[in-house]
Amino acid sequence: MFPRDFAWGAATAAYQIEGGWQADGKAASIWDTFSHDKGRVFQDHNGDVACNSYMLREQDLECIQQLGLTHYRLSFSWARLLPHGTTQHVNHKGVEYYNNVIDELLANNVSPMVTLYHFDLPQALQDQGGWKCAGIAPIFDNYAKFCFQTFGDRVKLWLTVNEPSVCAKLGYESGKHAPGLEEPGTAAYLVGHNMLRAHAMAWHSYNTLFRSEQKGKVSLAINSDWLEPVDPHCEDDVAATERDLAFTLGWFAWPMFVSGDYPEIMRSAIDSQSEKMGYVGSPRLPTFSKDEPGILGSADFFAVNYYTSRKVKAGGGAGQMSMKSDCDVEEIIDPSWLISGVSWQAVVPGGLRKLLKYIKDTFNSPAIYITENGFSQMGPLQMEDVQRCVFYKDTILEVAKAIQEDEVDVRGYFAWSLLDNFEWAEGYSVRFGLFHVDFCDPELRRTIYKSGQEYAEIIKKHRGALDKK
Ligand code: GAL
Repeated sequence: MFPRDFAWGAATAAYQIEGGWQADGKAASIWDTFSHDKGRVFQDHNGDVACNSYMLREQDLECIQQLGLTHYRLSFSWARLLPHGTTQHVNHKGVEYYNNVIDELLANNVSPMVTLYHFDLPQALQDQGGWKCAGIAPIFDNYAKFCFQTFGDRVKLWLTVNEPSVCAKLGYESGKHAPGLEEPGTAAYLVGHNMLRAHAMAWHSYNTLFRSEQKGKVSLAINSDWLEPVDPHCEDDVAATERDLAFTLGWFAWPMFVSGDYPEIMRSAIDSQSEKMGYVGSPRLPTFSKDEPGILGSADFFAVNYYTSRKVKAGGGAGQMSMKSDCDVEEIIDPSWLISGVSWQAVVPGGLRKLLKYIKDTFNSPAIYITENGFSQMGPLQMEDVQRCVFYKDTILEVAKAIQEDEVDVRGYFAWSLLDNFEWAEGYSVRFGLFHVDFCDPELRRTIYKSGQEYAEIIKKHRGALDKK
């Protein structure tokens, strides 16, 4: 059912698992600052220790082996490698740590996929304006080049930025994530723009300086819910859905895969809202400069994170300047959908198949990696997490159908997450792991959930079937 070289993976991110926030020369990131600021995170949890993967990487490796993964997606902590954010000062202990992680994965036949930026900007760069400043893009490019140079002989799959829309919206529009700014309707567009510029610069650097020798691939991970109209026969609902898709998936995918610019529906919605509000000044959605490395074509594959689905209808804009007013849609959870451990996560495996087909049809049949997908638990601990077992079975079946029946070129699937970890503003209250982590135990023992066993079985079955052919 799956291609021979299909990537069976699980994913994590540095701040969510590593801990060691000040170990061996690592400097603070914006998430260290944010989580230490009282009242920002559930019960003031933070990632100071997290799963302590900085010290316990062998245990993570055992989990990876137990699942039988072919691939493991991790992220680098920028502030662990370059404490001030720039290559003027390299933290060699940080380099050693990631060298060890990568070498040990490869020694066990597991290929690393590395994300360069998963929400944790070095605080030193935030102090200079962070992602809102145009100058961040060449600084990111230097960091990326440093990583390609140092690790690219062994890492063949790279993601520059994880979920720019989450960073932009939650970090700068609602302030629920670091750096906790609330500048609705302006900053998020600027931040998203600078992330795309940074990504494009890094992709071009890879392309010209490293690709011929290293032969790897570089992309950016876009998150998107599957969206469909409340009433497919209602024109307004259909138009609202198209607009919503443009503001989520299209915001980052359109520039890279279609036109080198933002979707026209998005720009016109923002411009007309600016006009209505009497907004003066430069357009809130910036334009790409022709003098910079082109964004069109700057992705070697399509990386998508999928968690849930929504039904969409028109309206819902609040009348003040905000992304919500610009997009002007209302998203609804269908009452028939099961809700996982968190209220935002309706469990809709079929939405993934539809999203994959939509990506194929809209973005010219790219090779696709599902770089995150998972099911959250909250509340009383369930090691026999039957619902999550069903979720993984159903979801992977939908991926198989997308490949076989819809002929979507899906190259890999990464479960979120290998381990229970620091779930951003929810702290440790929400658990996405295939392995349970006992955060009350100083040894942070990892124990496989039933769903971890289920995923291991699925992988074994498919890898095994291929081996026999
Ligand atoms: C994604 C994010 C992950 C993880 C996941 C579960 O948005 O990239 O770091 O937290 O959501 O909510």
